[in-house]
Amino acid sequence: MPSIVVIGSQYGDEGKGKVVDLLGEKADLVVRFSGGNNAGHTVVVKGVKYKFHLMPSGAIQGKRCCIAAGVALDPRVLKQELDQLKGKFEFSLVIDPRVQIIMPWHNMLDATSEEAKGKQRIGTTGRGIGPCYADRADRTGIRFAELVDEARFMERLDAVFSIKEKTLKAVYNSGMQISKDEIFREYRALGRELKQYLGDVSVEVTDALSQGKTVMFEGAQGTYLDIDFGTYPFVTSSHPISGSIFTGVGFGLRPIERVIGIVKAYTTRVGGGPFVTELEGDLAHTIREQGAEYGTTTGRPRRVGWLDLVLLRTAQRLNNFTEIALTKLDVLSGLDEIEICTEYKLNRETVRERPADIKDIMKCRPVYKKFRGFKLEGKLESFDQLPKEAKEYVQFIEKELNVPVKIVSIGPGREETIFR
Ligand code: GDP
Ligand code: IMO
Ligand code: MG
Repeated sequence: MPSIVVIGSQYGDEGKGKVVDLLGEKADLVVRFSGGNNAGHTVVVKGVKYKFHLMPSGAIQGKRCCIAAGVALDPRVLKQELDQLKGKFEFSLVIDPRVQIIMPWHNMLDATSEEAKGKQRIGTTGRGIGPCYADRADRTGIRFAELVDEARFMERLDAVFSIKEKTLKAVYNSGMQISKDEIFREYRALGRELKQYLGDVSVEVTDALSQGKTVMFEGAQGTYLDIDFGTYPFVTSSHPISGSIFTGVGFGLRPIERVIGIVKAYTTRVGGGPFVTELEGDLAHTIREQGAEYGTTTGRPRRVGWLDLVLLRTAQRLNNFTEIALTKLDVLSGLDEIEICTEYKLNRETVRERPADIKDIMKCRPVYKKFRGFKLEGKLESFDQLPKEAKEYVQFIEKELNVPVKIVSIGPGREETIFR
């Protein structure tokens, strides 16, 4: 099985980290291809929790980890992560020279632009992601190859610093809180330390695939945070959907053996934007607490709601999942009744796929099918051991989406997983 792609099918935080860790055992390479440290992927091994923001979750399995061209990399954060992992796990790391570097002004611009947006604020993670990708498009970005080469870094810093200083002042009436000299010294040190990881990920992954090695692509964020296909403007600035492995890593179109859609058994969202099946009140509180639905990166409480099949049907079209991993089924355990949104009402029309325009999505009302609740108790090792009602819930999802649910996750730990 040479290529395995793990993709968030909803608004992020579906449990991608757990699945990457589980299946990573069989991988030769684990590759991050989009997003940056706005991601927070949690892996729980023998009761110990590890949180990854930039490092591929394959690090725990001692894999060769790749950070590909499509990633926005904050070297301060990467250094912290490496310091925590080194000595504990025997992984290796390669970072593509084309990777865009998150600079201090990106964090400042993220904060100031959110503030300036007022009610229209996106609720970003504040990690500088949007401004960094904007600079890539504007061609004022600094790449990893430049960070690790002192003379080139100085040159780029000279060219970009004064532009950013002027932008912060003129547009946001805000100052640069750090001097060019301070940045140079801090980033030169980071560059020196990270230089050892420089390598062409595009070449490495292409070669690995040609040699029949197993490459795992670790998606970040979720389908509806996609900059084009998500709920724009309430999205991130990259492409979390499956097709972006080709442009994010740099290899030509080819068949991909496994595209695993990670589907949380209900829906959550952090930050602003439409959420058709959102719940409020006691039920929302119960699910949030049972699911520990607080952001891995920012600690913000996640908004929660019922599972949304309209959203998932479109996610299936956008990603072409070959299978689904259904996570956090245990969180629904103990509820008397569970609902699944099967379609929307948009004015008088019935809608089975997500409208393209956010204006229409805002007007959509969910239509629910009710399911009897279930209790997951005792040691559950096979699908057959699940209560009848839980099996019905899972089977309904796979029938509606016409994709097999091959993994059912019933807890954060590796062992709390049912394979079918
Ligand atoms: P990711 O961003 O998609 O990797 O997901 P996060 O790590 O941000 O959030 C998922 C959270 O749910 C983490 O705390 C996981 O440890 C946890 N988790 C994953 N699968 C399950 C599960 O099946 N049941 C429960 N209760 N927790 C899970
Ligand atoms: P993982 O990989 C959940 C959300 C933010 C905000 C929007 C834009 O852990 O699933 P950004 O900082 O990217 O400009 O914020 O996107 N967001 C995520 N939500 N999980 C994530 O990653 C996210 N990454 C970004 O909350 O609404
Ligand atoms: Mg997360």
